[in-house]
Amino acid sequence: MAKSKKLYLYPLWLRIWHHVNAILMIFLIATGISMQYSDPAYPLIRFDIAVTVHNIAGVSLTVSYFIFLLGVLFTSIGRFYVVKTEGLLTSFSKQLRYYLFGIFKGEQSPFKVSEKQKFNPVQLITYNLIMHAIIPVTFITGWALLFPETIVLNVFGYSGIMLTSLVHSIAGFFISIFLLIHLYVITIGSSTTANLKSIIYGYHEEHDTDDDQSEEIKE
Ligand code: HEM
Repeated sequence: MAKSKKLYLYPLWLRIWHHVNAILMIFLIATGISMQYSDPAYPLIRFDIAVTVHNIAGVSLTVSYFIFLLGVLFTSIGRFYVVKTEGLLTSFSKQLRYYLFGIFKGEQSPFKVSEKQKFNPVQLITYNLIMHAIIPVTFITGWALLFPETIVLNVFGYSGIMLTSLVHSIAGFFISIFLLIHLYVITIGSSTTANLKSIIYGYHEEHDTDDDQSEEIKE
């Protein structure tokens, strides 16, 4: 018989951070795309407005990022972000195989959520990459573009400003791709809205079944 238990995995500060971060990211992506691609004569968002909103959202996102980082370093949610390399490749491949094939055959997710392990190996790697590499690269290059006098003018014959904006745009592109995949993956929890409820109310509902074959990531 199926049993279910509620785990409180998303403290209030993390939920507030997440929603603020998501709103800022949506503003940044929309204004970033507008500045990059739209015809200046027919902008998606008027150019001067896009620049102002992008700058304000970028500065706010930097502040919100450091709040998140302090939370990861000094509160109990940090334990969910620790990556143990032993067996990681196998468990990552197992979860990826599930996302690509198993889910369409009605298989069970290979890793279950617990107090010790909130993220499956694919989430663990992508959340770490996004939060600890791609977002920092994005705001560091963003700040540099805000104060272009800090950028080295010439890097092996190429314009430092051009290279910085290239890295900034590529990082922004990865965040946009992450967001699309993230929005899809959050709909494939135990029900379409289960993950969304978790990030709103804080509780993850775990359903145990008698034929449960899911496992925990190796300690
Ligand atoms: C409309 C936008 C978004 C929605 C609806 C959304 C939804 C969700 C949901 C439902 C979860 C809980 C499921 C899980 O733990 O995997 C989650 C977690 C998470 N999301 Fe999002 N998200 C959005 C935007 C973003 C953006 C833009 C980022 C970062 C670039 C982001 C980063 C994260 C991270 C790091 C977690 C894990 C937080 C933790 O539990 O420690 N999300 N999101």
